[in-house]
Amino acid sequence: MAQQAPLLEANGIQKRFGSVIALRNGNLTLQPGEVHAIVGDNGAGKSTFIKIISGVMQQDAGDIMIEGRGVTMRSPHEARSLGIETVYQDLALAGHLDAAANLYLGREVLLPAPLGWFGLLDKRTMRRKTEADMRRLKIGIKSVEQSVMRMSGGQRQAVAVARAVAWGKRIVIMDEPTAALGVRESLMVLELIREIRNQGIGVIMISHSLPEVFDVADRITVMRLGQSIASFAADETSVEGIVRMMTGAEAQYLTAAVDG
Ligand SMILES: Nc1ncnc2c1ncn2[C@@H]1O[C@H](COP(=O)(O)OP(=O)(O)OP(=O)(O)O)[C@@H](O)[C@H]1O
Ligand SMILES: [Mg+2]
Repeated sequence: MAQQAPLLEANGIQKRFGSVIALRNGNLTLQPGEVHAIVGDNGAGKSTFIKIISGVMQQDAGDIMIEGRGVTMRSPHEARSLGIETVYQDLALAGHLDAAANLYLGREVLLPAPLGWFGLLDKRTMRRKTEADMRRLKIGIKSVEQSVMRMSGGQRQAVAVARAVAWGKRIVIMDEPTAALGVRESLMVLELIREIRNQGIGVIMISHSLPEVFDVADRITVMRLGQSIASFAADETSVEGIVRMMTGAEAQYLTAAVDG
């Protein structure tokens, strides 16, 4: 019987930086309408993994499939054209531009011909659409014309998330989306994640906050030392179980016992 292919499948992804093996064996299966959390200690390879899935860097080995079709993404632009949008750990917003210009960065709307022929931008349309996006996503910023540089960390994060959500047609990837946020803003981002999941989009989220992960994720993949070592449905595991896998507590205990 024909089973629908997953939204995204990454198999055996490897990445090395000189002598450092950042990623030994990255595996991930993402279904439509699923929030999939990737957890793991610092340096486990999480960011490297999602940078490969979002076209920022290329893997040395391994395959990526979107809806069952093998893809090669040589740039974030190619990933975007496949419907994959990413909020990076280090944000990558243009500080001197306002929210509207950031939302449309690289995808500017031109004025109708003949002015558009000369590259003149349709700022009104971009602002109007940005305001509509912000409202739809229930994001509160005072003005879409305020430069991002003058915004708080949380507002900036909201703009970055809004940009990903506005353009992510299939998959939205977020690397530590709430790390810099206050309680209220974090709740807003989590609400946003639920909202886009309900639209059938697949969300990959990296987070160090396990309460947050258990609050919002449907599935959890644990990475350790460059490998995805396990993947669970969120309701089939516990915080303790995940921590044990993340830290390799059992293995360390055994080593300590042998050494002692
Ligand atoms: N551009 C790079 N050049 C060299 N080494 C790198 C580079 N990027 C990552 N690494 C190394 O690869 C390993 C995995 O890094 P990565 O950033 O993927 O980890 P992470 O799981 O995202 O960690 P964190 O939770 O701290 O964000 C680390 O040992 C890191 O030092
Ligand atoms: Mg990281």
